[in-house]
Amino acid sequence: MRILAIETSCDETAVAILSGEGDVLAVEKSVIASQAAEHAKYGGVVPEVAARRHVDALFPLLEVAGVPRDGAGVDAIAVTAGPGLVPALRIGVEAAKTLAYLWKKPLVPVNHLEGHLYSVWLEQQVPAFPALALLVSGGHTELILLRGHGDYQLLGKTRDDAAGESFDKAAKLMGLAYPGGPNVSRLAQKGNAHAIEFTRPMLESGDLDFSFSGLKTAVAVYLTAHPDAKHEDVCASFEEAVVDVLVQKTLMAAEQVQPASIILCGGVSANRVLRERLRETIARGFPDTTFHIPDLAYTGDNAAMIAAAGYFRFRVGNTVDPLTLSADPNMKLAERV
Ligand code: KG4
Ligand code: ZN
Repeated sequence: MRILAIETSCDETAVAILSGEGDVLAVEKSVIASQAAEHAKYGGVVPEVAARRHVDALFPLLEVAGVPRDGAGVDAIAVTAGPGLVPALRIGVEAAKTLAYLWKKPLVPVNHLEGHLYSVWLEQQVPAFPALALLVSGGHTELILLRGHGDYQLLGKTRDDAAGESFDKAAKLMGLAYPGGPNVSRLAQKGNAHAIEFTRPMLESGDLDFSFSGLKTAVAVYLTAHPDAKHEDVCASFEEAVVDVLVQKTLMAAEQVQPASIILCGGVSANRVLRERLRETIARGFPDTTFHIPDLAYTGDNAAMIAAAGYFRFRVGNTVDPLTLSADPNMKLAERV
């Protein structure tokens, strides 16, 4: 079957067509129009601006993706229904509802975070269940146990800033442009990761939760006390602290749940140091556990991952009436038990 997916939850307008047969998925098209450069002017995403840009970009993107105007060859439509920015989400949701209604195709609402989890199902080797996922994005930092398709348990999450958000805030303190993550990690490559001993928040908390706002404050305090600090060293030391906490908490979770596979996903999974450190640590501590990361094309927001999640939802009949779907900015993926 072929599934069309639309993603507009934040500042990327994205469209994808994915074909699936059994457990084998193939991305036929994945196109993204990023608004990041526009939001950089404001230092962050402005929801109303994002919504307007989605309106401008969405139909041209459907054309670029080669989606026929009568929907021929499309078997179902998946759309990100939440979480995200309401004005932005609404554009994708309303467009998907309209197309589903006009073309008489099933409509599959997808949780954006579930999309990030399924970004690793776009790879050759897919994870076996139970899988432990570290999902690190601009809005979320969560450890999730996947017991099966659509069957999730929240093991831990951030109590304040998300990991990506802390990268973005640290970047801002150093005058680096939004989105800060890639800029911080680029500068970090030229710095000494052990130059400054930043705190490792929550490592001793005894649970699987995170907290990153204190780390951002530590960077602010350091920069005030050392106005001539080498930003390369600050970036490298900050990155080291974030990676250290993420890796150690993931290992703690793995010890508890003994997963068959471990997944790293979300925008921050583009971070080279995090990818490498987690891979090495798992290989050493859990040699029988497979490690799965998305291709760099699918770490950030994209519609191929929404199509993948939508495909598995569609298979179990998770479709909705196109007239009733509404965007849910607080849509939950997994709860603690
Ligand atoms: O998943 P994503 O594209 O959007 C959300 O769902 O939030 O994640 C975006 C986040 C931003 O905070 C961005 O700074 C961060 O991912 N990010 C990175 C890197 N690339 C993107 N953080 C650290 N290192 C990177 N290389
Ligand atoms: Zn995302």
